Amino acid sequence: MTRESLSEQHERMGRAVTKLISEHASRLETAPVMSSATPDDLARLFAEPLPLSGMPAEEIFEKFARDIEPNAMQVPSPRYFGQFNPAPLAIGVWADALSSSLNQNAGAWRNGPTSAMIEAQVIRWLCELLGYGADAFGVLASGGSEANLIALKCARDRVSKDISRLGAPAFGRGLTVYTSNQCHYSVEKSLDILGLGRESLRKIETDDRFHVRLDVLTDAIKSDLDEGRRPFCIVGVAGTTSTGVIDPLPELAAIAREHDCWFHVDAAYGGGLAFSDKHKAKLRGIELADSITFDPHKWMFVPFSCGTTLVRDGGQVLRDSFDMSPEYLSENRGFADAQYDFFRYGQMGTRRFNALKLWMCFKFMGKNGYAETTERHIELTEYLAGRLDAISDFERVGQIETAVCCFRYLPPAVRALPVAEQDSVQQALQQRIEKSGEAFFPSTILHGRRTLRVNINSYLTERRHIDHLVELLQREGENLNRQG
Ligand SMILES: Cc1ncc(COP(=O)(O)O)c(C=O)c1O
Repeated sequence: MTRESLSEQHERMGRAVTKLISEHASRLETAPVMSSATPDDLARLFAEPLPLSGMPAEEIFEKFARDIEPNAMQVPSPRYFGQFNPAPLAIGVWADALSSSLNQNAGAWRNGPTSAMIEAQVIRWLCELLGYGADAFGVLASGGSEANLIALKCARDRVSKDISRLGAPAFGRGLTVYTSNQCHYSVEKSLDILGLGRESLRKIETDDRFHVRLDVLTDAIKSDLDEGRRPFCIVGVAGTTSTGVIDPLPELAAIAREHDCWFHVDAAYGGGLAFSDKHKAKLRGIELADSITFDPHKWMFVPFSCGTTLVRDGGQVLRDSFDMSPEYLSENRGFADAQYDFFRYGQMGTRRFNALKLWMCFKFMGKNGYAETTERHIELTEYLAGRLDAISDFERVGQIETAVCCFRYLPPAVRALPVAEQDSVQQALQQRIEKSGEAFFPSTILHGRRTLRVNINSYLTERRHIDHLVELLQREGENLNRQG
């Protein structure tokens, strides 16, 4: 260990890291979005013996600059069009450093009093934004997957006050959940974790624009009831992972009410629409949900990781599901503070002070700042859609409701191919562009067909980046065609 004080170490390392971070940011415009290194190449770079003696921070930072940063996926790039992964706000990056330096354990109030208060405050802001009343409350989670798990546990536990104690099998095998076949995989995984089994999920067919079909949903509920099953939860999606579209939430809420089901809305991504007066009507009905998943680490540009579960009827619902009183946290101190022990509201014990970066990003951007970026992203996506519509070699799939655009590359020569080969062409085009490092977007499968999917989630993306993407698609498409 060095003789430097902790404060001096921070001063020295802080300067070095600030330089690394700002230089990285200055390279984003031109750096390849993805490195060409293979897993073997990277394994060789990091295959080092167990460190026995410590080494100077400067040497470790050099290794970061040489091997880690250039081979990272450049998620904050304006040419990264991946899976709802944002360019993080600078204030969020530095908030992360501040929360690490305080190292609050945000599980219990006494180990993080300010973190608890700030978590409660950001939760209230999000509840207000999404149209929930004053009773609503919630909890920060690691991301949308955990937020869905927390919400589905509340839904399951509403079936009986004994289900936490006795386990799901004691309540028969008929408990059933309904959601669109466009739902995120975490819904199915959660049902497995909750002991209900993956087969307790009914994935309902969607219409030609990927919204859940209400007629199919009601038929499925009816036939399950006829077979003696027990529908207990309906999950609507506001911003589906593949196409970004929003299910008909008021209608889903009415079906849930009719069948005495918990209504959860997975708005991990689409919840961001609530910032914009122009677009928030797309979320109409979300305020009827018993619970909502919303991820600040998607459209709020908060660095990973930061998800939330919000509950309409307040914190008691979460506490009924998750509260425990271990001996070492059971001293009677009047318990005025227990209501701020966030370990009682979710599944994590030791918790990072993640509320800090959300709080700082919220204050830095304001509702208006977020509205402006949300609207700009949707405009840019509509611009991309318009450009693709004007080129006969592309065929768009679905519609633009958020900042996701899906399409297929189908020039006449490809259109003439059998369906499976058309799918291979989409994959080959995606891979060529990924390898070029000039942009990144993934593909997905929609109505059984391989489809290209672009999401704009970097506040650095401008119209010229979209023009570049369209030119790149055309150029690489032609190269692919030439090679046969
Ligand atoms: C609709 C939806 N829900 C939930 C999730 C899961 O979120 P996370 O990856 O933060 O766990 C995602 C991720 O993309 C998503 O698109």
